[in-house]
Amino acid sequence: VENLYVRECYRRMGFGKMLFCAVAKEAVKRNYGRVDWVVLDWNVNAIRFYEEMGGEVVEEYKFFRLTGKDLQAFGHTH
Ligand SMILES: CC(C)(COP(=O)(O)OP(=O)(O)OC[C@H]1O[C@@H](n2cnc3c(N)ncnc32)[C@H](O)[C@@H]1OP(=O)(O)O)[C@@H](O)C(=O)NCCC(=O)NCCS
Repeated sequence: VENLYVRECYRRMGFGKMLFCAVAKEAVKRNYGRVDWVVLDWNVNAIRFYEEMGGEVVEEYKFFRLTGKDLQAFGHTH
C-alpha cells in the first residue's frame, strides 16, 4: 500500500496536488482509463482534497481484507 502524505507544516501549499498530478499524468501516459484509490471515511481533509482533484466516490465497491490466522492459513496449503 502506498500513501499520499504531506507533512503538516507543508499542507495547503499545493504539494499534495503536485503529487496527485504526477500520478494522474503517469496514468494518462500509460493509457490507463482510470485511477482508483481508497480513503478512510473519517479523513474529511483528504476527502475534500480528492473531491477538489475531481475524484468521485464509487458506491458499489466493497473493500475486502484477509489478515491474521485467515491469511496465515494459506501458508499451510500446498
Ligand atoms: C491530503 C493531503 C495529501 C493534501 O495535501 P496538501 O499538500 O495539503 O494539498 P494541496 O495544498 O495540494 O491542496 C489542493 C486543494 O485541495 C483542497 N484541500 C486540501 N486540503 C484540504 C482541507 N484540509 N480542507 C479542505 N480542502 C482541502 C483545497 O481545495 C486545496 O486548494 P487550496 O489550498 O488552494 O484551497 C494532506 O492533507 C495529507 O498529507 N494528509 C495526511 C495524510 C492523508 O490523509 N493522506 C491521504 C490518505 S488516503
